[in-house]
Amino acid sequence: MDEMNKVTFGIDPVLPYALEEALNRLRINVSFLGNETKKIMIISSEPNEGKSFVSMSLWKQMAKAGESCILLDMDMRKSTMVKSNDIRRTDGGELLGMTHYLSGDAEFSDAVYHTEYDGADILPNVDNIANPSMLLESSRFEEMLKYSAEKYRYVFCDAPPLGLVSDGERIGSLCDGAILCVRGGVTPKGIIRNSMQQLQRSGCPLLGIVLNRVDTAQSGYYTKYYKDGYYY
Ligand SMILES: Nc1ncnc2c1ncn2[C@@H]1O[C@H](COP(=O)(O)OP(=O)(O)OP(=O)(O)O)[C@@H](O)[C@H]1O
Ligand SMILES: [Mg+2]
Repeated sequence: MDEMNKVTFGIDPVLPYALEEALNRLRINVSFLGNETKKIMIISSEPNEGKSFVSMSLWKQMAKAGESCILLDMDMRKSTMVKSNDIRRTDGGELLGMTHYLSGDAEFSDAVYHTEYDGADILPNVDNIANPSMLLESSRFEEMLKYSAEKYRYVFCDAPPLGLVSDGERIGSLCDGAILCVRGGVTPKGIIRNSMQQLQRSGCPLLGIVLNRVDTAQSGYYTKYYKDGYYY
């Protein structure tokens, strides 16, 4: 594992101070959840609510704070993480990821990479597929989560939206808790309620809700406010 390959992020913008600060507070609240909370799914009801943004930010911030972290890209249907961050191997080799590992085409250690952030490793998804249900049901999937939780202090799982597919429930059933991203002023209340019920059914505790992409008067969107400590 120590000759692990490394990736760089070609696109890695500096965030506005207020946003950085809100994410830092989220990071502190997550650290208050205690030692039993290691595997955290970041989920939302609908697409585009900021799951990938929140999971990547939390993962980076936790690592900067000195915790060992892994980010698992579990959106195998429509992940854009590799493209939108321009993730490349520093040795120029072929990038392997989640679907390669789960289908047995790569070992865990071939699909996990160090990054320029100390303590922050990543397992991206490189090739999207139409139906990952079988892969999510596989023993390799469970092994990956188990092994990750042994090796890292935090395992952040970037999930696809709950919506009509069961991926999120499956992922949640194996995690210690979920952070629900909600798009401020956009996601209807009934849909948020359904998502909370879906999480409850899968036995995944709701750790908190991030009210994300809230429009402010002067600027576009911000993680302006978040609510934590929301338990069943
Ligand atoms: N708090 C934020 N501040 C600024 N930009 C944000 C914020 N949250 C999300 N975005 C932007 O909004 C867009 C959607 O975010 P993101 O891709 O993280 O959503 P998602 O929930 O992962 O979407 P999908 O369901 O497609 O996976 C991206 O362009 C992202 O950079
Ligand atoms: Mg996403």
